[in-house]
Amino acid sequence: MPSLRHVVIVGAGRAGASAAAALRAEGFDGSIRLVGDESLPPYERPPLSKAVLAGTAAAGAQQVLAPDFYREQHVELLLGQAASAVDLSARCVELAGGARLSYDHLILATGARARRLPPDLDPERRALALRDAADATRLAAALASPRCRHVIVVGGGVIGLEVAAAARAAGRAVTVVEAGPRIMGRVLPAALAPLLKQEHERHGVRILEAVHPRRLTVREAATSTVDADVAPVRLDLGDGSAIVGDLVVAGIGAVPQTALAQAAGLHCDDGILVDEFGATSDPAVSAVGDAARFLHPTFGRALRVESWQHAQRHAAAVARHIAGQREPGQREPYVDVPWMWSEQFGLELQAAGLLDDGDESVVRTSADGSVTTVFALRGGALRGVAALGPDGKIGRDVRVAQLMMERGVKVAAAALADPDVRMKSLMSSAPPAAPNRDAVA
Ligand code: FAD
Ligand code: APR
Repeated sequence: MPSLRHVVIVGAGRAGASAAAALRAEGFDGSIRLVGDESLPPYERPPLSKAVLAGTAAAGAQQVLAPDFYREQHVELLLGQAASAVDLSARCVELAGGARLSYDHLILATGARARRLPPDLDPERRALALRDAADATRLAAALASPRCRHVIVVGGGVIGLEVAAAARAAGRAVTVVEAGPRIMGRVLPAALAPLLKQEHERHGVRILEAVHPRRLTVREAATSTVDADVAPVRLDLGDGSAIVGDLVVAGIGAVPQTALAQAAGLHCDDGILVDEFGATSDPAVSAVGDAARFLHPTFGRALRVESWQHAQRHAAAVARHIAGQREPGQREPYVDVPWMWSEQFGLELQAAGLLDDGDESVVRTSADGSVTTVFALRGGALRGVAALGPDGKIGRDVRVAQLMMERGVKVAAAALADPDVRMKSLMSSAPPAAPNRDAVA
């Protein structure tokens, strides 16, 4: 393999920062330049929809790496600078300001952006999004405004429901408008969605499912420049009804940031396409995290995973591979089973694997009824798991299920469904369950 001296990483989020850390941990001593279009050093996003909206943390305050890391490890941080083009044949990244950065290897960690409501639905661009620290600061201020009495949340996914929970905690009335047949359709199996819906309704959130927003109209212009996002609005729905409120938040999905890769000529399809080692259609370029669609050997299909844990692990695995410059026979593919979590009203939910990949679904309810876990099995092997329960009570079993998926362990449906059978006993060869996240939220 050609010698590797200069690595450029585009995207200074969790994946980009994790790639830089893993390159150094692997002993790579060449130059690393980490380019980010945001002005803050790489920070964690999960707190943005949790602690930041609750008013207990500042947006962007929790950094991915220790603040001294970049100086101590000679990683050049180029912040507030967007990469505008990549020249694959010249191996060069162009920044919007005109600077050109040469590379031996380029890592694209451009993440995803929040999908916006289409202009014909929201002509005055009233709906707020939540993706970065600036969005979170703006939304937290709007929620805190005394003029904000009723929040309309478009989209009943992870962001929409976390915003709904934060808005209720702030004492606001909340209506969630979900276009799909049920909330959390991307993440939760059908058996769990009604339980989460009940919890929201118990806390006073109004949830409308299978309803399409048609048009958002401003009824009265904002009078204050301090909380200009808060003003009477009306959302007309496809069923002929309408909701009036003071603030609209759209959490209608994330779109992978592929424009740079696509313009350079790299293969993209709802994500930058990479193999199980993170390589794009150009072997001198890798892609990681939310932006990448990667081949997963265990599931036998290409996945794009939007999760905090994956962003770190995928980037680290790919960076190790790049720095190690291993020969094909020594290369280890990235095989981690995807995992995510969310928190709403003190309830935690976790999901791992692929819940749509099974031919059999098994529900396990804990003896006290507080935890419900749904498993997807295919040919007797676990393919996906999702659990909902009080904070701190679901992680262990989900972790065991994750290990079972990684090892392809077969399991009897009846044993899985029985809360008296300990999950760990179903996989006696599994190492002790370890906590699978740091406290970031
Ligand atoms: P990103 O975090 O999107 O970072 C990409 C960075 O690249 C951004 O800073 C972007 O501005 C920058 N960039 C893009 N294009 C360019 C360019 N051309 N030039 C320079 N810079 C560029 N996951 C969970 O598992 N649990 C949770 O509870 C959870 N909560 C979340 C809450 C919120 C509000 C959000 C937004 C996400 C949450 N996630 C959660 C998902 C998790 O944060 C993401 O999966 C993770 O941030 C992805 O990391 P990434 O580095 O791939 O992408
Ligand atoms: N009107 C109403 N609902 C809509 C519309 C629409 N026009 N378009 C999409 N939806 C619904 C979807 O049916 C889905 O239930 O919005 C929800 C979006 O949910 P997610 O896919 O979970 O996306 P979101 O909540 O925006 O989260 C985006 O942030 O927390 C991270 O990991 C998460 O990467 C993800 C990102």
